[in-house]
Amino acid sequence: SKSEGWSALFAEPMSELVKRYTASVFFDQRLWRADIAGSRAHARMLHKVGLLSAEDEAAIQRGLDQIASEIESGQFAWQLDLEDVHLNIEARLTALVGDAGKRLHTGRSRNDQVATDVRLWLRDEIDGISALLQDVQRALLRVAEQNVEVILPGFTHLQVAQPVSFAHHLLAYVEMFQRDGERLADVRRRTNTLPLGAAALAGTSYPLDRAFVARALGMVDAEGNPQICQNSLDAVSDRDFAIEFSAAAALIMVHVSRLSEELIVWMSQNFGFIRIADRFTTGSSIMPQKKNPDVPELARGKTGRVVGHLMALITLMKGQPLAYNKDNQEDKEPLFDTVDTLRDTLRIFAEMIGGQRNPQTGAFEGGITVNAEAMRRAAQRGYATATDLADYLVKKGLPFRDAHETVALAVRIAIERGVDLSALPLEELQRFNPAIEADVFDALSLEGALNARNTLGGTAPAQIRTQIARHRARLGLT
Ligand code: ARG
Repeated sequence: SKSEGWSALFAEPMSELVKRYTASVFFDQRLWRADIAGSRAHARMLHKVGLLSAEDEAAIQRGLDQIASEIESGQFAWQLDLEDVHLNIEARLTALVGDAGKRLHTGRSRNDQVATDVRLWLRDEIDGISALLQDVQRALLRVAEQNVEVILPGFTHLQVAQPVSFAHHLLAYVEMFQRDGERLADVRRRTNTLPLGAAALAGTSYPLDRAFVARALGMVDAEGNPQICQNSLDAVSDRDFAIEFSAAAALIMVHVSRLSEELIVWMSQNFGFIRIADRFTTGSSIMPQKKNPDVPELARGKTGRVVGHLMALITLMKGQPLAYNKDNQEDKEPLFDTVDTLRDTLRIFAEMIGGQRNPQTGAFEGGITVNAEAMRRAAQRGYATATDLADYLVKKGLPFRDAHETVALAVRIAIERGVDLSALPLEELQRFNPAIEADVFDALSLEGALNARNTLGGTAPAQIRTQIARHRARLGLT
């Protein structure tokens, strides 16, 4: 028959191909700790509600102990034929402890099992990434503390705008990473909710104690109340937590990418504002003078793949009918790669910016090196204090729009002469407006411009010190 012919022609090679196509064990094996933790909790609960004897439960826990040590030591024989991490572990358990192993899957499906595993795994990764985000903030804070009085041009449109403190500039990134941390904490709350007990999709006829399992797995809220998925169809098919995490991760990488772009610009010869340690740069095979900022460039580039993973995950969910569909197996590689990329990037950035702790002295060494003179020269070159001259005239009674026009003229003359506003003689300045007096030079100085912006969120050193104190307390540094 046609179907026999079809299977005779394709059965073997097709099945091998399809086997490889559908198997996930070579990437989802990284969920093994979560899978074992979930099975341990499920087994304890089955015994508690009378569905599993004490002997069987003990055998299961013993078997899982052994499997954990086999996996840890690299001796576990992962099998493609067994499709995924769940079936591999379950088959090994049954080989080790016999019928008790076969009883473990009572009231459970791979659908609620995998959803639980991914949530448990991601919860712990979120904790690791949150800690690294704080390390990056502490690194930025360390450099900021040493550079409160260091002035560089602030830009808009990448044109010199007004002088700002280098510390103020770095603290802008601390704000971004703080918000990122808050987003992760929020995602963690929804991630840490228990699908187990939903079974395949409709719930189970066994009297399972879901609250017991949730508590055993630490899936509890701040008050210690169990967090349990309340609808079985949603429990097995919801991957919102993964999408949310991926969105938070994409935003973190966007912040890293903006910082990278600035580091790259700042260390170009035409700026010369900073240097990063040699171990974060590479040379050129042809140009002997080169030290290229490969690390920030790669971080900027890797932002693309993390943003791409968000698109992959959100597109994966679009159009899936309830409940579980195999599509969801495709959530893993984007999620894993997002976590790996984020973890490595944050770890490297913390060290590249803030340096490494010297175990002898306790001091941090090898972070970014600041060239305060180059920053200062750049701030002086671009008429960064023009706004301050306008503000000075306003204080003398001129309407702001007239002051703006007057200063524009003064800048034009200064450009023609090739000097800064502060280099124009007083008599010259007075020709623009007779109200100008000798104290104008305070306003035209970079320090004067900085000190003048002494309102909440401004760049005055007094404001920056307040912000540093706030961040130090928040990050546990005081
Ligand atoms: N490997 C699957 C996944 O990652 C596990 C769940 C499979 N369930 C099923 N009914 N095929 O989603």
